Amino acid sequence: PVRGVGRAHAKAILLGEHTVVHGTPAIAFPLPTLSVRAIARPGTPGGVIEVPDGHFGFVAGDPDVAANTLSGPRVAVEEALRRWGLTGHIADVVMECDIPLARGLGSSAACAGAAVRAVADLHGRTVDPATLYELVQCGEQVAHGRASGIDASAVLAAGPIRFHEGSATALDIGLDAALVIADTGVPGSTQHAVAGVRRNLDRDPRSARRALTRADELISGAVADLSTGDAAALGRAMLDFQDLLAELGVSTPHIDTLVAAALEAGAYGAKLTGAGLGGCVLALTETGDARTVSAALRRAGAVQTWTVPTRGLRSG
Ligand code: PMV
Repeated sequence: PVRGVGRAHAKAILLGEHTVVHGTPAIAFPLPTLSVRAIARPGTPGGVIEVPDGHFGFVAGDPDVAANTLSGPRVAVEEALRRWGLTGHIADVVMECDIPLARGLGSSAACAGAAVRAVADLHGRTVDPATLYELVQCGEQVAHGRASGIDASAVLAAGPIRFHEGSATALDIGLDAALVIADTGVPGSTQHAVAGVRRNLDRDPRSARRALTRADELISGAVADLSTGDAAALGRAMLDFQDLLAELGVSTPHIDTLVAAALEAGAYGAKLTGAGLGGCVLALTETGDARTVSAALRRAGAVQTWTVPTRGLRSG
């Protein structure tokens, strides 16, 4: 074929970002409404992967953020071609990306997944899920340093997952509520946030152990609450996890304001999602309150919001 096409979607972490890097489980789900489409075409010989043009819906004018997001896909595609014995071949990959970059929604992993799928399509290859995960993870390691793998896993998953030490299991969801995601409009660097958390944990091993134990408890409880559909308990767990993330140093006054606005408007709970220090806030609300909560988040400074009904989240 003259071109190959591949897609992947955004993800949101319900609980467990950062602590997942240090061995606790985490819960994430796909956001199929935000996706990336990659189109691969044969390039000119020379062995370099070109990403000649990024069409990014939300990034307008931030070449550094775009370049950082695209470093992962480049590495993932190079590794795929190497494994397929196609190192002499190159591909030009163009992304059409609805996912805001550097906002904790998994844009770099989704771009890598879409790019590898597009290049596989171009070369008539099928990629099994485990290999695709490995390839995306190669890109993530380059883009973010020591990535836990939760982003690579969640952007490729069909439904909500519990992720622990490199492997994902599909979660049973009995929850009838809505998730409202609010973009602070501030790009956050995952690498920078992860390094800061590591410094904080290293400084005080006793409180680090306490934090990780607490994270573990909150996530075990949340897995059960998701299945029984206890939104109030989940909301409380989100707030507790937000406190933990604030202690680890990745919240900001802007995030705190958005969390408070969501609660004020009636949300069960809210927290940052992803690496923090900017990025997005995630609120859990009754379905009927989603519109009010999302309006309140915009009034409090969110640049955009998305609402995802939890009923629509199929099990993986
Ligand atoms: O890159 P983000 O913002 O989607 O965050 C990924 C989640 C972290 O736990 C902060 C990092 C990781 O590798 O798990």
